[in-house]
Amino acid sequence: MTSQRPVAVAITTSPSPSFVLAAILCVALLSSTASAETGAKAWLRYAPLDTQAAKQYKDFPSRILLLGDSLVLKTARQELTSGLQQMLVRTLEPTSNPKDAFVLGTLKNVRTLAPSLQPSQPLKADAFWLRATRIRGAPCIVITGINDRGVLYGVFTLLSKIARHENIASLDDLQQPYAPIRWINQWDNLDGSIERGYGGPSIFFEAGKARADLTRAAQYARLLASVGINACTVNNVNAAPQVLEDDFIPQLARIAEAFRPWGVQLSISVDLSSPTKIGKAHVGATRVETGPQPVPPARRAAEPLTTFDPLDPQVAAWWRKKLDEIYRHIPDFAGVVIKADSEGRSGPSAYGRTHADAANVVARALKPHGGIVFYRAFVYNHHLDWRNLKNDRAKAAYDNFHPLDGQFDDNVIVQIKNGPIDFQVREPVSPLFAGLHHTNEAIELQITQEYTGQQKHLCFLVPMWKEVLDFDMRIDDQHTPVKELVSGRTLHRPQGGFAGVANVGMDANWLGSPLATANLYGFGRLAWNPNLASETIADEWTRLTFGADPLVVETVNNLQLNSWRVYENYTGPLGAGTLTNITGNHYDPAPESSENNGWGQWHRADHEAIGMDRTIATGTGFIAQYPPAVQKLYEPLANCPDNLLLFFHHVPYTHTLHSGETVIQHIYDSHYLGAEQAKGFISAWKKLDGRIDEERYRDILARFEFQALEAEKWRETICNWINQLSGLPDQRGRFPAKDRN
Ligand code: GCU
Repeated sequence: MTSQRPVAVAITTSPSPSFVLAAILCVALLSSTASAETGAKAWLRYAPLDTQAAKQYKDFPSRILLLGDSLVLKTARQELTSGLQQMLVRTLEPTSNPKDAFVLGTLKNVRTLAPSLQPSQPLKADAFWLRATRIRGAPCIVITGINDRGVLYGVFTLLSKIARHENIASLDDLQQPYAPIRWINQWDNLDGSIERGYGGPSIFFEAGKARADLTRAAQYARLLASVGINACTVNNVNAAPQVLEDDFIPQLARIAEAFRPWGVQLSISVDLSSPTKIGKAHVGATRVETGPQPVPPARRAAEPLTTFDPLDPQVAAWWRKKLDEIYRHIPDFAGVVIKADSEGRSGPSAYGRTHADAANVVARALKPHGGIVFYRAFVYNHHLDWRNLKNDRAKAAYDNFHPLDGQFDDNVIVQIKNGPIDFQVREPVSPLFAGLHHTNEAIELQITQEYTGQQKHLCFLVPMWKEVLDFDMRIDDQHTPVKELVSGRTLHRPQGGFAGVANVGMDANWLGSPLATANLYGFGRLAWNPNLASETIADEWTRLTFGADPLVVETVNNLQLNSWRVYENYTGPLGAGTLTNITGNHYDPAPESSENNGWGQWHRADHEAIGMDRTIATGTGFIAQYPPAVQKLYEPLANCPDNLLLFFHHVPYTHTLHSGETVIQHIYDSHYLGAEQAKGFISAWKKLDGRIDEERYRDILARFEFQALEAEKWRETICNWINQLSGLPDQRGRFPAKDRN
C-alpha cells in the first residue's frame, strides 16, 4: 500500500497570491522528500538533489558522446542520462563532439580522440576510469574501461558519487575489480518457489517455466551491475534436471536476454545425474550399448543415458552436446554451478569417481566456449553417528577436497562456504581456503539470512564477511588473508572470487525488508573491493537508500553496523553453533534439535558442559586442518577467543572466559543484553518519524517491533533451556538453581 505523509500548511485569512504559491511549492517539496517508497528502487533512487548539493555539479558537461553502439554501452548512456535528469534536472544532449561532453567508450576508442590519455596503470577487465580532462582543448568527462562493462560500472560509480553529494571537483578515479569472479547465486525452483528465499516468489520462474514477463529480471540485473556483479546463477543448487531439457533452454535464453544489456551473464546450476534423467535428442549422440541408431535427428529417440559416470566417454559427449546447445542459444553463457554428493544429491561417489572427475567432465565441455564450473565444497555426510565424539561435520569440506588439490581443470572453481558448517551466526573461517594451493577457489557468502533472522530480523552481514575476508590464514607463516586466497592473488590462480546467495523475490523491495538490501549492496561492494570498511559500505548504502539527513544517516548506519552482534547476542553465544530449529525452519529457537541426529550441527550441551571438542589433543582433530599458526590460536584453551570458544572446546559451564565471566553467566547475560538491544532498535528508529517516507518508516518500525518480541522469545527459550540443563542459577537472580535430575 502506498501512503502519502500529510503535510500541514496553516493558511489563515485571505492569503496573498505569492503566499499561496510559496505554500504550494512548500507542499510539493515536502511531499517529494517524504513521498511513499516501496523500496523497489533500492539504492538506485536518484532522488533530486537540493540546490545547495547540486551547486557543485553545475559545471558538468551538458552533452553525451557515445563511442560505440553495443547493448551495454547504450545502457550506460541511458543510465547516465536518466540519472542526471533525475538528480540534477540536467538533460544531456547527444553529440558527436567531445567538447563539453561526457565521453563514454572503451579506452581504445577514447584514445582515437585523445591519444595522450593514459591511465596510471593498465586497466583489467571490468575496471573503469573516470577522468575530468580536456580533449582538443575543450573540457569533458571521460568514462572509460577496457571493456564495455567497465564503462557501465564507471557510469554507476559516477552516479553514486553524485547521489551521495561527493565532491568530485578534479575527477580522477581509476578502480580495478579485486577479483574476476563476482557472481550471484539464486536458489530459485522452476515452480517459482525459492529455497531459503524470504522476499516473495521467483522473479525468473513460474509454474515450471520462465516467467512471461521478465521485467523484474532486467531490473535485478541493473541492481547487480550497479555494484559490479557480472554473472547470476538463476536456479537452485539443488537443481531440477529439467533446466537442461531442450525446450527449457530457449526459456533460459530469454532470461539471459533480460540480463544482457547490464553485462550480467547467465549461469545455471546443474544436476550431475542429468545424463540419466533427461535424454531428449542430442544430435549426433550415440549410445554405446545399443550402437549408433540411424534415425534422422528430428526423430531421434528421447531416451536418457543409463549412466552419469564422469569417466564414461558417452557422458562426456553428452555434456559436450548439451553445452554446445546452450551456447547456440546463449553465446555469453557464463557457466554452471554443481552441488554433488551432498544432502541427497547425486554425485561421483556413485561410480567411485572423485569430485575432480565430476567437475572436469563438465568443465571440458565448457572450455571451448570460455565457460566455468563452480564446484561446491559443501559436501558432507548428513547421517553422521552423533554418538561418536570423533565425528565432525566441520571436517568434511577439507577432507573431501584437500586430497584433490591440483586435479581440477583450470576452468573449475571450488566454491567454499565462509565457514566449515553452514552460514551460522558465528563460525571460524573454513580451513579449506588454505588447503587448496593448486586449485581455483571462490568464497560463498549468504546474503539471504537463512540462519540470521530470515529478513524478519535486522542483521547486516558485511562486518561478519569482513572478519572472514580479513582473516589471516598464515600459510607458510606469511600474511595470507582469505580475500587474497579466494581472489587467486596469493597463489597466482587464473580464476577466483566471490559468490553470494541472494534469493531476491517478487516482493517490491526485493528481499522482504527494505533494510536487508544493504546485504546485497554490501556483497557487491566487497566483491569489487574487500578492502572497503564496513562503515564505508553502510554509509554509502544509507545515503543512497534514505538520503543525506544527518540524523537518518547516523541512525541507520548505527543500526546496521550493530545488528549482527545484537542478533548473535540473543541467538548464538560463544560460537556454540546454531541453537535454532535445524531440522525445521532454521529460524525459531530450538536448541535440542541440533543434537542426537546425523546432521552434525551439534553443540554437545549436557548437564556439566557445552561445546564441541575439536582440538587435536582430545577432540575431533578439526583444528589440525588449519596452518600451524592458526592452530596455535584455537588449540590452547587459553588462546581461543571467547566468541569461538564453544566451537572449538567442550568446557564446563563454570569455565571463566577471557572477559572474566563464566560461560553460564555469559549465556544468561548476552541473551538479556541482546533482547534489550533489539528493543532499543525501536526507539532509535522512532526518532526518524517524519524524516523519511511514511511507507518505509512504518514497514521498518513494524519489523523492529516484531524483532524485539522474537528476541525476547529467544532469550526465554535459551535461558530456560540452559538453566534446566545445567541447574546453575543466574547470578542476577533471573533464574534459580535447579535440580538437574
Ligand atoms: C543449507 C540450506 C539448504 C541448501 C544448502 C546448500 O543446508 O539449508 O537449503 O540447499 O545449504 O547450500 O546447498
